[in-house]
Amino acid sequence: MSPSADQRRGGLIELYREVSSCTRCRLHEGRTKAVFGAGDAGADLMFIGEAPGAEEDRQGLPFVGRAGQLLNELLAGIELRRDDVFVANILKSRPPGNRDPQPDEIEACWPYLERQIQLIEPRVIATLGNFATKKITGSQVGITRVRGTPQVHELAGRTVFVFPVLHPAAALRTPSLAETLREDFAKLPGLLREPLPELEPPADAAMDPVAARPDPASQLDLFG
Ligand code: URA
Repeated sequence: MSPSADQRRGGLIELYREVSSCTRCRLHEGRTKAVFGAGDAGADLMFIGEAPGAEEDRQGLPFVGRAGQLLNELLAGIELRRDDVFVANILKSRPPGNRDPQPDEIEACWPYLERQIQLIEPRVIATLGNFATKKITGSQVGITRVRGTPQVHELAGRTVFVFPVLHPAAALRTPSLAETLREDFAKLPGLLREPLPELEPPADAAMDPVAARPDPASQLDLFG
């Protein structure tokens, strides 16, 4: 059964607190603020980027720099606002100098993203750029080959559409890519209406009844 709106928000608030004080990897030493993610706790559409940049680290919010502005414009192009979706990253803390995330950092942070997916229960996860796409699809095939075509995956015990798109920062560097991004975003409303196909449950599914289902918790209003 799906969690109620209050359970989702309560669970996310609890997780937010955990992430804010997380010391599981070295990145906590250099961050200003952890960047948990933000948006609608019950969003059908979730975006996953790579890691916070400098502005995100300062504000504690995802995609608030120039790439975030472009993301807002792309969403407006399909009549969505940031409040309608949930935006998160693979890593919750900024790597120094925006270097690539290291395998142990990804491993330390991955359970947080899994719990976010379990609580939010998105139908579509749009991966932003090469890094998030490879991690989420579990494939080394690069973004330029897979962008704009939905895939079906089992993530955090749930079947979801994964929809890889270019990272908005790529379109800031190479403006001609903005049109490709717009074309791919235009496919999202149709994908959100599509029924999710069934995936074969893994053999041990019965032993894992989504352990992270939240208790009704705090009434703080951080997530819509
Ligand atoms: N790039 C990302 O991948 N994530 C952010 O939050 C900002 C920029």
